Amino acid sequence: MTVLVTGGAGYIGSHTVRALRRTGRDVVVLDTLERGNREALLDTPLVVGNIADADLVQSTCAQYGVDEVIHFAAYKSVGESMQRVGPYMHNNVDATVSLLDALSAAGIGRIVFSSSCSVYGTPEIVPVTEAAPIRPESVYAETKAIVERVLHWYGEVAGIHSVSLRYFNAAGASFDSVIGEDWDAAINLIPMVMKAVLGFRPPVQVFGTDYPTPDGTAIRDYVHVDDLADAHIRALDYLAGGGVSTALNVGTGIGSSVKEIIIATESITGRTVPADYVGRRAGDPVSTFADPRLVRATLDWTPQYGLYEVIETAWNWHLSHPYGYKPGPAK
Ligand code: WQD
Repeated sequence: MTVLVTGGAGYIGSHTVRALRRTGRDVVVLDTLERGNREALLDTPLVVGNIADADLVQSTCAQYGVDEVIHFAAYKSVGESMQRVGPYMHNNVDATVSLLDALSAAGIGRIVFSSSCSVYGTPEIVPVTEAAPIRPESVYAETKAIVERVLHWYGEVAGIHSVSLRYFNAAGASFDSVIGEDWDAAINLIPMVMKAVLGFRPPVQVFGTDYPTPDGTAIRDYVHVDDLADAHIRALDYLAGGGVSTALNVGTGIGSSVKEIIIATESITGRTVPADYVGRRAGDPVSTFADPRLVRATLDWTPQYGLYEVIETAWNWHLSHPYGYKPGPAK
């Protein structure tokens, strides 16, 4: 049983690759390394290339005896997507269609897809269930919603069964600090908080303190990246056991505010988080967190880690890798 992991040199991909190998599965990664890091793969076989290259996908599947796929490869910046609609549609949607055609030709019928809670846009009701309306509010989120529909039809017509995992806010790092988020490019809250604590960046900007929430700051569902990795493995097992195609919210079901993240970081690191309290960021929902009942019932998945482990592993990673996977500033 070999798993092809596209985009496996990325943040969630590399943690999932490590978890897959710990279960004894063979893994091969296909990644352009445009945004991924070879170092994050340790000694996992890596084919450097694009999922849109049908010949490469088919030759890789044949060479490694691929039976199933986890598909992470995509551009993932909400902000960037609103400036570069073409590259996002080509890289996230067109390339996935090419990938699915190549997998179908290779007779591979099981795929787990890296989707996102951002397909819901600003949810009217929290916690968010899978019945919530799909209303993407960014090009990035739209590409995730489109690929989910593409997967539906490849299931109907080409017999490729899929599980789309709609992540909430992925965060944290490996417990041994060997791999983590390549925070050079990351502008998500937790990497920004860590950079501010380490003095690598100016104070973290807190986007909005006047939200209708207990402390006035926005609420999200922060799920540890190793818990996310486990959900992918369970999704593969579910499909291998004959599970029907589906889409599942993957979050802890617990909402945490920006201020709570800052307080937890100061408690765990023993340091002050330099923060500037500024206006709201356009497009930010007040609050979004998952209703995890369906993913629990379908995959028997429950998160093993909470906010403490998210912050602690992120801190240990950033402290031991102040420049992410980069060797550090020129001497
Ligand atoms: C979190 C909270 C900000 C930065 C992300 C991805 C999205 C999806 C879900 C995967 C918000 C606040 C942030 C900062 C801040 N994941 N914040 N200062 O926007 O919830 O969505 O996870 O597909 O694609 O983008 O994540 O980390 O940017 O923001 O105050 O410097 O932190 O307003 O409330 P977001 P985020």
